[in-house]
Amino acid sequence: MADASSPPPAAEVASPVTPINLILLTLFVFLVYLRLKPAKPQALPRAPPPTVFRTFTPPELFPYNGLNEMPVYLAVKGQVFDVTSGKNFYGPGGPYANFAGRDASRGLAHGSFDEDMLTSDLDGPLDPLDDLNDEQLEALRGWEERFLEKYLVVGKLVPVGAK
Ligand code: HEM
Repeated sequence: MADASSPPPAAEVASPVTPINLILLTLFVFLVYLRLKPAKPQALPRAPPPTVFRTFTPPELFPYNGLNEMPVYLAVKGQVFDVTSGKNFYGPGGPYANFAGRDASRGLAHGSFDEDMLTSDLDGPLDPLDDLNDEQLEALRGWEERFLEKYLVVGKLVPVGAK
């Protein structure tokens, strides 16, 4: 006869394979899977188009007015600025849309965005701005500084026939 202090027979040892253990094991395996499963490849943001410094004649600059998904460029004192980030100023319907795709120098010097501030003959010589008075030249310098701080120069304005 077995005495009370002797260990129970092997068959009576509780098996670890119980329903609750199976559930816990499944959960554990699932959590490990979640942890290790490869993350979805991240879609990288598209790089902006490269900015290439180039020369623009007035007719070449003209289409850069924000229409037809074009960027917005304008020229100040011979420098062509990419003002696309200021599209609400210069883009279609903006208060200064007249400057888009044009030489804005005279308009900025005069503080006017009237049509007659723009060079009408795109195929002719560039506006020499030689009739501007000191105050207008100073205003133009101020605008140039502001544009240099805020926007990227993407090119140089040259008259037709000079490239
Ligand atoms: C009724 C008169 C005008 C009002 C109320 C007005 C208003 C404004 C305002 C609120 C800004 C934004 C300023 C900022 O972001 O710091 C601005 C910017 C500007 N304004 Fe005017 N403006 C007026 C006349 C003019 C005129 C006559 C010109 C023509 C040269 C002009 C050219 C500009 C330019 C070039 C900018 C800079 C936009 C940029 O940061 O790219 N504004 N104006």
